Amino acid sequence: MLAKPTDNVLSIDGAARPTGRHIGAILMDEGKLTPSDAEQVLKRQRELGWRFGEAAIELNLITDTDLREALAKQYEFPYLVSGPDGVSKELVAAWDPFHPVVEELRAVRTQLLIRWFNPAAGRRTLVIASPGAREGRSFIAANLAVSFSQLGQRTLLVDADFRAPRQQGIFNIADRFGLSSVLSGRADLSVAAPVAGITGLAVLPAGPVPPNPLELLSRGSFAALLGKAQAEYDVILIDTPPASEYADAQSVAFRAGDVLLVSRRDHTRVEETERAVKELSDAAARIVGTLMNAF
Ligand SMILES: Nc1ncnc2c1ncn2[C@@H]1O[C@H](COP(=O)(O)OP(=O)(O)OP(=O)(O)O)[C@@H](O)[C@H]1O
Ligand SMILES: [Mg+2]
Repeated sequence: MLAKPTDNVLSIDGAARPTGRHIGAILMDEGKLTPSDAEQVLKRQRELGWRFGEAAIELNLITDTDLREALAKQYEFPYLVSGPDGVSKELVAAWDPFHPVVEELRAVRTQLLIRWFNPAAGRRTLVIASPGAREGRSFIAANLAVSFSQLGQRTLLVDADFRAPRQQGIFNIADRFGLSSVLSGRADLSVAAPVAGITGLAVLPAGPVPPNPLELLSRGSFAALLGKAQAEYDVILIDTPPASEYADAQSVAFRAGDVLLVSRRDHTRVEETERAVKELSDAAARIVGTLMNAF
């Protein structure tokens, strides 16, 4: 679960509006219910006073997964059904848009849209940083990226963690070329891979791990890459290594400008967070929000 220390958390957001199609119509169009099944469900629904989908499950006419898929269609969330594409189950925003963690991530997204996002002012690139290892940066970066793309934003997720790159595994994409190839001039932004089934999202994996991560991230080619990405995408999220162990996050934040600072409940020490805030601020980065990750 995520817990947000920020105030004024809004629970309503733009993506969660039904399209107006009845859930029964969607289930029939998908071939999950026949018209006579639907009649039966309507009757049961009236008897029990339940929702249509719940009554259909109670009658064993559809499964829980059928209902979730239909709800995802009703709310126009891109939603992955199990398949051979191997996208990690960690990508809960894509697999299970109604999971409580995903609801909270949408609230975080709403906060970011209200408090931070402003392309006209050049504010569309956000670094996901945290002081220590295993605090959930990659998980949050990946799921927030899915969540922004579900709003119709052209979204780019960049894996700038050359120390323990993971986005290629989460999204099951090739990483023969990636950020390291772009920064060393062996590829360009076109190697960012669109993610099958998630419209609007592209992922630039870390690529082959370089021997000189910090030096590579400090090059002008990183600034040039961000400039190109900003022309092609609405939102750019960047995953980074632990800020208290390496200077990489500081260097990335210096170029990108804005940071979402993650800490992990009962794990990240307050002093570590304070030090990270100071180091990132010294790099002229703005901490646009903090997020307490509890898992
Ligand atoms: N809110 C959450 N709910 C459930 N699982 C989570 C959550 N946040 C992180 N995790 C899980 O915890 C593990 C560590 O998370 P993750 O890899 O994102 O951390 P990290 O800070 O990027 O670590 P690293 O220092 O290795 O880069 C992963 O298995 C991830 O799926
Ligand atoms: Mg990580």
